Amino acid sequence: MKSVVNPYLSGDFKTSQNSFLLQPISSEELHANKVSRNFWCNVKGKGEWSATGVSSSQQAKVFTREEEEVTLRAGVLWHSIHRVSKDMGLSSSILSFVPMDHQVEIMKVDIQNISNEEITFTATAAIPLYCRSADNIRDHRHVTSLLHRIKTTGNSIIVNPTLTFDERGHKKNELLYYVSGSTGEGECPKGFFPCVEKYIGEGGSFERPEAIIREKEPVGEGIFLDGYEAMGGIQFEPCTLKPGEEKSFIIRMGIATKESVIEEVGLAYSTVKDVMNALEQAKEHWEKKQNVYYETGDADFNQFMYWVSVQPILRRIYGCSFLPHHDYGKGGRGWRDLWQDCLALLIMNPNGVRKMLIDNFAGVRMDGTNATIIGEQQGEFIADRNNITRVWMDHGVWPLITTNFYIEQTGDIDILLEENTYFYDKQVVRGEEIDTTFTSDRKPCLIDKENHIYRGSILEHLLVQHLTAYYDVGEHNHMRLRGADWNDALDMADQKGESVAFTAAYAGNLITLAKLIQVLEDQKGMKEIKIVKELGSLLQEETQIYDDVTKKKECLHNYCYTCKQEVSGDFIILSSEALARDLTKKAEWIKEHIKKNEWITVGNHSWFNGYYDNHGRRVEGEFEKGNRMMLTSQVFTIMSDTATKEQVEAIIKAADEYLYEEKVGGYRLNTNFYEVKDDLGRMFGFAYGHKENGAVFSHMAVMYANALYKRGYAKEGYKVIHALYQQVNNFEVSRIYPGIPEYFNEEGRGMYHYLTGAASWLMLTVITEMFGVKGSKGNLVFEPKLLKQQFNSKNNASLTMNFANRNLRVTYQNVNEKEYGDYQIMRVLLNGEDIMVTSHKGRIDRKVIEGLEADRYHEIVVLLE
Ligand code: G1P
Repeated sequence: MKSVVNPYLSGDFKTSQNSFLLQPISSEELHANKVSRNFWCNVKGKGEWSATGVSSSQQAKVFTREEEEVTLRAGVLWHSIHRVSKDMGLSSSILSFVPMDHQVEIMKVDIQNISNEEITFTATAAIPLYCRSADNIRDHRHVTSLLHRIKTTGNSIIVNPTLTFDERGHKKNELLYYVSGSTGEGECPKGFFPCVEKYIGEGGSFERPEAIIREKEPVGEGIFLDGYEAMGGIQFEPCTLKPGEEKSFIIRMGIATKESVIEEVGLAYSTVKDVMNALEQAKEHWEKKQNVYYETGDADFNQFMYWVSVQPILRRIYGCSFLPHHDYGKGGRGWRDLWQDCLALLIMNPNGVRKMLIDNFAGVRMDGTNATIIGEQQGEFIADRNNITRVWMDHGVWPLITTNFYIEQTGDIDILLEENTYFYDKQVVRGEEIDTTFTSDRKPCLIDKENHIYRGSILEHLLVQHLTAYYDVGEHNHMRLRGADWNDALDMADQKGESVAFTAAYAGNLITLAKLIQVLEDQKGMKEIKIVKELGSLLQEETQIYDDVTKKKECLHNYCYTCKQEVSGDFIILSSEALARDLTKKAEWIKEHIKKNEWITVGNHSWFNGYYDNHGRRVEGEFEKGNRMMLTSQVFTIMSDTATKEQVEAIIKAADEYLYEEKVGGYRLNTNFYEVKDDLGRMFGFAYGHKENGAVFSHMAVMYANALYKRGYAKEGYKVIHALYQQVNNFEVSRIYPGIPEYFNEEGRGMYHYLTGAASWLMLTVITEMFGVKGSKGNLVFEPKLLKQQFNSKNNASLTMNFANRNLRVTYQNVNEKEYGDYQIMRVLLNGEDIMVTSHKGRIDRKVIEGLEADRYHEIVVLLE
């Protein structure tokens, strides 16, 4: 149950793209649309009052605080709004949450008499029921209401549309949509308003419904109504409250497959007690999932990070499609989101991640590209239905980053030797050709010449992704941009565009791969690696081909042809050492090539050019309309160790000069190009300072921080994170709940909140770089990069997290109040006992951690001197 509420209790809820109980909304509809979870009180002698503030009279008036005061309280996945109306003598407290055991949203409404006199009122919950696919919002909106079959029972209005009417075709509908209600003591309602038309009346609206204004009689149970827009109007018996007295009502809104489930839900949440128990259970559930705690000297920062750590959980539930700003796609997540969200999962809930990683590799094609439509089930990838052939050139980068992080955290190098299938659909030769023989009824898996489904190791999948990318170059011998890279909006340079930024990222990864192969040899004695025969053609040691764009292209083309419809299934055996050497050479070649050709100097500043446009022209540097700099180009040259120390320092200066702006949250994604650069991407069509065109885009800003910390620039990394956090914290400008949004717009407002990959990266950066608590081949190491100002008044900074399935609280004690760079680790105490003395890096062997009891917290104290 994916629900959204705003302070007016507007916002939709659904279980998928095709099953919305409340009408789908995007950000604009939150105020433009009158649909909400309303709750009316008809007060004897005074008239009607909306306990959610959604009535035309309340909306028309500008209230003073004294007249109608509203307070919002919320925690992780619960929301409570409190409204006090002096005029009416009433207050309302409305709690909203989804319990753990059922697909239902609970709304508990408490109405209190805050006056000195007795008040008699009639309460009516009023929730318009949409009950169909999001596609129908303006595609057969009315026709699909003709499918509705509505009925009333003792406590519910149930809608069971006969058919579904969306891109899946006309199918028999299996779902029941419902609203049910009871008083807080479990009594049934008095009656119902099941039909929108009748409820609002001629000329009425949801903010001024005739049924409420004219106090119409509701219908009883056992009513059947076919072919109308459905209304979840539930009216309760009139009630009288003495001064100070309170009455509660419980509204349940859900989607079920059987009526018995609706009854079960009715029984499970029929009283205030049931609801409060379910709330406690839900709070506990989310608290358990969120098992990382940060304690620095800045309590607000600690709280902020608490909320950031909730975000990856939210993205797994909502994908990128189901919050008001996130109205793209139809559910599910993209390829890079899938992999990056695993980073946070690895920290918070590592169980099951191994299998998830292996399963996800089934999305890789033998030509190095990958499936982009990800199914509901883990490891399920769907062949392209919409004939969109688009290749994002960065996609090959993320699986290795995540897999390597997994190996470091767990020491499980064996994962590289696990096997999985390769994805196969009609898109072949890296999106350049279509296999017309492919039919969608076949399994989307690559076969060998014997017609068996081919399986290769995870290591082989990674090699396929990186080697193909290495040869996939444009005229400047950097990797082709193709459909775009990480920046989805660089999507108009398919022919001649190149992404130097991600070429550097691949170089960094090639080194990582070489190191992993070395670990396989050292730890498992694997002197040889087995790979599919065809891939051998991309492992030529003659380095002269590296400089030759034509030969590289030819080589890639030939390879893609050999595995276009099938692979031989034959293997070749390579020496591990030679393979690692080959990968390292390729990486070094890239780095040198970038350093030699893409380091640009303009006036007093220097930085890397990261892109070529569709005319094959360099994108960054000095231009008539102003100097052009992009953050992404700097991030990956720094992170991959392509940039030298001097270059990193120059980049920091240039970024401070061209990209940093404190009032919008720090480092912008790019300078203003003052041009709708349609030979590079749609981002230039966006207004400057918004989204991918020069906003402070949290994800890339955080990756910049990560890259800086990695290279030892803690002060500079901190500056990036601090600026983002300050911006969030400045509520008057950012206007968001706690957490990190996708970006801050030109005015500094937080946009596209919650469902952003920035959250995983921020957690990763704060934990493994700022606190420097991380795995190294499965062992736990401490490399703190905390600044002096980040320690609390007792000179401590702590991190509570899970490692090797043990709950640990790591406390750094900076007794001599030293600055980063001056302090060193002197001692490490585990549960009070010294386990290591004097070493630059602290480290606890995995075996020691695994030897600890599982169900309690263990204290690790790291003394800095
Ligand atoms: C979003 C997408 C991400 C993409 C980025 C830049 O970022 O989810 O895949 O790389 O835009 O175009 P997010 O909202 O995750 O920060």
